[in-house]
Amino acid sequence: MVQAWYMDESTADPRKPHRAQPDRPVSLEQLRTLGVLYWKLDADKYENDPELEKIRKMRNYSWMDIITICKDTLPNYEEKIKMFFEEHLHLDEEIRYILEGSGYFDVRDKEDKWIRISMEKGDMITLPAGIYHRFTLDEKEQWEVEHLDQGSGSSGQSHQGADCWPARAGPRGEDGGGCCPVFLTLSTGKQQAQVRPSVRNPF
Ligand SMILES: [Fe+2]
Repeated sequence: MVQAWYMDESTADPRKPHRAQPDRPVSLEQLRTLGVLYWKLDADKYENDPELEKIRKMRNYSWMDIITICKDTLPNYEEKIKMFFEEHLHLDEEIRYILEGSGYFDVRDKEDKWIRISMEKGDMITLPAGIYHRFTLDEKEQWEVEHLDQGSGSSGQSHQGADCWPARAGPRGEDGGGCCPVFLTLSTGKQQAQVRPSVRNPF
């Protein structure tokens, strides 16, 4: 089951869990009151999953794309990672379904406090239009990214994200390597992100 918690105020490495002390877990019910919806699906059969089809039909998610967050395959990787962590909102829902790997989605509650949602394979969430949010890799993924990067540097081989797709490889670790996070992104149409204006420089 997906885990979520209120974050501490630290600005240190965002890939760390940043749990508030004392711990303040957030339930699915609390997330629902913010308009955040959650499903657990079988990511290994996403290409032909009646459950996923049902959700897509019900919520009119006609558009679909795959993002692989791999240093070797994602153009401007470092820039993109920074951009994902920049607080922003959309005028439409944002839907993310984790096919491989893991990461953190952070959303602001109604008092502007950050809630961190720890997402892994099979987790799908919908963030409502207008909610401020951001995304970061977690420590595990960072380790793998670094590990793979070192591996590719010494061997000259490229670790393609596609090798980690459920349809092409065994579970994590079985293929002797690791996997980059692979997300299925769904929506009712193309989205435009709006970065939160700086409080100090609102114009
Ligand atoms: Fe977004």
